[in-house]
Amino acid sequence: MRLFAANWKMHKTRGEARAFAEELGGEIGGGIGGAELVVAPPFTALEAAGDPSGRWSLAGQNVAAEAGGAFTGEVSAAMLADAGCRYAIVGHSERRRLFAEDGPVLAKKVARCRESGLTPIYCVGETTEERDAGLTAVTLVRQLDALNGDPASLPLVVAYEPVWAIGTGRSATAEDCGNACVHIAEILSDRRDLRILYGGSVTPGNAAELLRARRTDGFLIGGASLSAASFAAISRA
Ligand code: PGA
Repeated sequence: MRLFAANWKMHKTRGEARAFAEELGGEIGGGIGGAELVVAPPFTALEAAGDPSGRWSLAGQNVAAEAGGAFTGEVSAAMLADAGCRYAIVGHSERRRLFAEDGPVLAKKVARCRESGLTPIYCVGETTEERDAGLTAVTLVRQLDALNGDPASLPLVVAYEPVWAIGTGRSATAEDCGNACVHIAEILSDRRDLRILYGGSVTPGNAAELLRARRTDGFLIGGASLSAASFAAISRA
């Protein structure tokens, strides 16, 4: 089953989330065959973005590395599960870059997800500098290290998101995307239930082409997921 996940980042109030949910419901009707849809709104809009009839599920955009306690501003995996989430995004490049999240803290976040029955959507991807230096493969290996302690029998989603393609309007080519996804699949070859997404400037215009990339099971979509019509169009690709 292909997976299409909408990462809203820090966008949408509850009212806007409700309007999106209504519009998405109208767009997809009874659902899109062969496609699983996930919406990752800000925490405050989780309830408003949900679908009572279950045609899409919810994800947290982030999750605390600790299970609970005196951690002002954090939201735990148990709270996300309680708020209806099935997934949590872990290690998005914006979290790595702007909030200094590194391997050890991301490994803890993955572990917290598991304790609460959430499936991590674990993000990896090289920067422009790493790519220009020929370090894409090395970077993926290093970032996937954080999954070493995670049981291989559990379902896992990995999103390949080259940093240079995020929010730039310059997506990877299907060939680059396929190469990276195949490499990720090789590194994680012991996994029984692994879906690999691509993320970075996915639009309704390039979705069909990118879905032809080898070993690519869907997308993590930022900007183009803010409109229900374009998120639905990408998911139908
Ligand atoms: P984008 O973002 O689709 O706006 O490039 C993707 C992401 O950051 O997950």
